[in-house]
Amino acid sequence: MFRSHTCGELRDEHIGTEVTLAGWVHRRRDHGELIFIDLRDRYGITQVVFDSLTAAAHKVAEEARSEYVLQVRGRVRPRPAEAVNPDLATGSVELEALEASVLNPARTTPLYISKEGGEDEALRLKYRYLDLRRERMQRNLILRHRMIKFMRDFLDREGFLEIETPILIKSTPEGARDYLVPARLHPGKFYALPQSPQQLKQLLMVAGYDKYFQIARCFRDEDQRADRQPEFTQLDMEMSFVDQEDVLQLIERLFIALCRAVVPHKTLSTPFPRLTYQEAIERYGSDKPDLRYDLELVRLDDLLGDTPFQVFRGALEQGGQVKGLRAPGCASYSRKQIDELAELARIGGARGLAWAALPADGGEVRSSFARNLAPGELQAIVERMGGQPGDLLLIVADQPAVVAAALDRLRRELASRLGLIDPNRLSFAWIVDFPMFEWNADEQRWDAVHHPFTAPRDEDLPLLDSDPGRARAKAYDIVLNGYEAGGGSIRIHRRDIQQKIFDLLGISRETAMAQFGHMLEAFEYGAPPHGGIAPGIDRLAMILADEHTIREVMAFPKTQQAVDLMTNAPSPVDERQLEELHIALRRPLLHSSTEPLCEAAGWGVT
Ligand code: AMO
Repeated sequence: MFRSHTCGELRDEHIGTEVTLAGWVHRRRDHGELIFIDLRDRYGITQVVFDSLTAAAHKVAEEARSEYVLQVRGRVRPRPAEAVNPDLATGSVELEALEASVLNPARTTPLYISKEGGEDEALRLKYRYLDLRRERMQRNLILRHRMIKFMRDFLDREGFLEIETPILIKSTPEGARDYLVPARLHPGKFYALPQSPQQLKQLLMVAGYDKYFQIARCFRDEDQRADRQPEFTQLDMEMSFVDQEDVLQLIERLFIALCRAVVPHKTLSTPFPRLTYQEAIERYGSDKPDLRYDLELVRLDDLLGDTPFQVFRGALEQGGQVKGLRAPGCASYSRKQIDELAELARIGGARGLAWAALPADGGEVRSSFARNLAPGELQAIVERMGGQPGDLLLIVADQPAVVAAALDRLRRELASRLGLIDPNRLSFAWIVDFPMFEWNADEQRWDAVHHPFTAPRDEDLPLLDSDPGRARAKAYDIVLNGYEAGGGSIRIHRRDIQQKIFDLLGISRETAMAQFGHMLEAFEYGAPPHGGIAPGIDRLAMILADEHTIREVMAFPKTQQAVDLMTNAPSPVDERQLEELHIALRRPLLHSSTEPLCEAAGWGVT
């Protein structure tokens, strides 16, 4: 028996008993005759005292260094009153070592385990197995485990079946780029890793498994961001004989119960507010607004119909908008601070930022544009925006998408500068009534906003023929604190409508049959009405753990360049392997075998 207890287990009731612990040397304090070692495992820390009177054990402690793995047999005793540590679960006791052995020594670690240091993330990722020993990562992975366990239990009680779907599937050109896997037995052919189990879960509905879920690994070869990874995990769900309301209510119940169970210290506003896509863009400039704070955008167009100010008039004449955002108490911002905000608006695509500072003492307004306005216009703007003395008013005039993107950035920046974000608040919201399509100007065709299996709203069916851009979908997202935490829809279950959507998306009949023939065919064998959703587990865990990237809630994440720094994947493979797969590289490999191969090589099939 390696251990009788864990390092987090001993309490007053164990005093006087003999126990054996095994763990890592967290800290070591050498006072000569007495050596103190904090022994650590994932359950906690126990202080072990090595007295020189117990010579053999004392010698082991003398030689031990940080992160050595030790086994210690000893007797539990109370700590002296002045040494009691109320911050430690085991803090009222210590272990008097009677016997000790080194199970494995350790080199000096490149990271301190016992204190979080501001070291480069690359170092943490290269030595992830050391980084994972730290309390923060343990806390995050335990939280993630609890979340998934809760989801499984909840859905099991609701009558859902967990069904696994394959990882080697057919490549489809929709959505993000696929990760491909060459098929050795079929030269020139490839499997794809699933971007999500979307089609398979719909086929399970056709098969009659009316409540399905899966903790599903998804793979997408897309540009990485703080909330994106090339492989990530969804709580993938699908149900038959449901409408949108059924899905929303079930997920809302699940999320409320989940948050109360795993992050009880956080506040949650219920029921979750619902915003249409239009409303979200209009009020917040984003379809994933952070609702922990107000700062709403204000439409000014109707006040400025006849304005002489060319910037505003020009935007309106070209079908654009003029919208403002009130920055409470920011009138004293310096030119430099205002320039920083203008730069953010520019990153959002705006050509500039108009601003007016309303002095706290009621004095003269400082403004970048007021002198260009007609009499009364400034007053009307201030009134519409609810401007108070001391406020800074920010205005963007441009095409609607640019105005939204620029003001969304400014809104988020101001909330953080003004300290309006309560980190312990969870603001969920539903965004509904997404448009079915968005126009792809580059390729001169419609793209599906959600995915091509999403059903249009019944009353918008005629718009598919007359004005597809105005057709709304039975699609919904759940947003949380400014992130898209999940998305789903009611699906098409009739072949004729599915075919019509493929036509609108510019997918030819032949391509539709080759790519999605199995779906079209399945819809002719009694496909029930169905719909579902897929919350992103990594994003949810990130938010619940108060982290800023999903890498912090994944055991072995990849970098922003999709590289695993620990194993150096992706890596070159040897000629024989390629040959077996019938693959020849178009370009010679320029990289040495130890260097991570960051960029995709041009692959050609022999
Ligand atoms: P969607 O593509 O909206 O929908 O994805 C659902 C949720 O998955 C998470 N997510 C990601 N998380 C981390 N890294 C990524 N690269 C990444 N991409 C997406 C997000 C997102 O909201 N099959 C549909 C769902 C459905 O219709 O049922 C789908 O995959 O939290």
